[in-house]
Amino acid sequence: MNQTINPPPGFDEASGLRQKSRAAGMDPDYWYAVEEVRNVKPGSVVEVIFWKRSIALYRTADGEFHAVENRCAHRQLKLSLGQVEGCRLVCGYHGWEYDEQGRVVGIPDLFGRKELPEISIRRYPVQVRYGLVWLFPGNPELAEQRRIPDIPEIEGRDRWACVPITFTCTAHHSMIIDNVSDFSHAYLHRKYRPFDGATLTRCETEGDDVHLAYDTQVGRGPISGLFVDHGRLNTNHIELCYQYPYQWSNTDDEIKHWLFVLPIDERTTRTFFLFYFKSLKIPLLPVRIPRFAMTAVMKVSNRLLIGPLLDEDRVAVEAEQLGYERHWDAPSIEVNPVVSAFQRVTVRKWQECLAREAESGNAAA
Ligand code: FES
Ligand SMILES: [Fe+2]
Repeated sequence: MNQTINPPPGFDEASGLRQKSRAAGMDPDYWYAVEEVRNVKPGSVVEVIFWKRSIALYRTADGEFHAVENRCAHRQLKLSLGQVEGCRLVCGYHGWEYDEQGRVVGIPDLFGRKELPEISIRRYPVQVRYGLVWLFPGNPELAEQRRIPDIPEIEGRDRWACVPITFTCTAHHSMIIDNVSDFSHAYLHRKYRPFDGATLTRCETEGDDVHLAYDTQVGRGPISGLFVDHGRLNTNHIELCYQYPYQWSNTDDEIKHWLFVLPIDERTTRTFFLFYFKSLKIPLLPVRIPRFAMTAVMKVSNRLLIGPLLDEDRVAVEAEQLGYERHWDAPSIEVNPVVSAFQRVTVRKWQECLAREAESGNAAA
């Protein structure tokens, strides 16, 4: 077994399923959440990374979002080091100006030239939904037909309360997908007990989706038990899905979540969790929290319960990443069949993506 620090193998034919899944990127032909809206103020620019590809995401003074590749066409400086002036993104070095199509529309000093040269950089389609900024890193012609998942419960007038939780994890995205849907790790959460005694009742791969269900005790911990109305809800069963490249869960149509991962590189992933509840109970009282107060309660529950719970997972998967880098050639031993089902989809999708890119002559990796 490899006890030294040779790097794990990349995505090659000789590797096993687990090794391939830990080296796979994600198909760029989907919409990816890249940032929370509230983190990008009008008139500012930030860097976001999709699988090693740096993108400048900026917001004009009128609040609109735009994204372009993160390099100035002049000397290749990152445009995220520049600034937004009105509706233009301006490079911080010589002040070249870009419009939202990525075209150079201003050069402060042309040294006597009369005309602006025709120069442009790549732009990326952007949308805003659920308090998140979404970007389409792949073939722009597919952006219209691919959809951000519809979550009707958190849109419109009667929407359920939902407060996003976002963090960066030093682990491969496949480890995070494994973690969220593999309920064999109840031991890690023995303090908060979000699920207890899970029996897998379904694990089916349909196309690019893996559907699963557990009979389990949802939300029986001392804190979660205060908010969840066990008298009214069936909290003995949960359905989950790895709906590539996203993931969701549903408890009795009242407690739900989506997870959107943003793959940054082989050991870094940004995660965007949306937890949403139809109703919550006022702790210690047999009373439901009124709709108007739900957002405030969600913020408290994110801080007291969901945040600390996800932090336990983050610590575990970051340790798993380190363990994998040191012992990537140790035998893969899994007790829960869902893990290899996820890995098969992740690997197949990346293989298809690499084959597509090889055909078109572009490099996805
Ligand atoms: S490097 Fe951007 S303007 Fe010169
Ligand atoms: Fe967990």
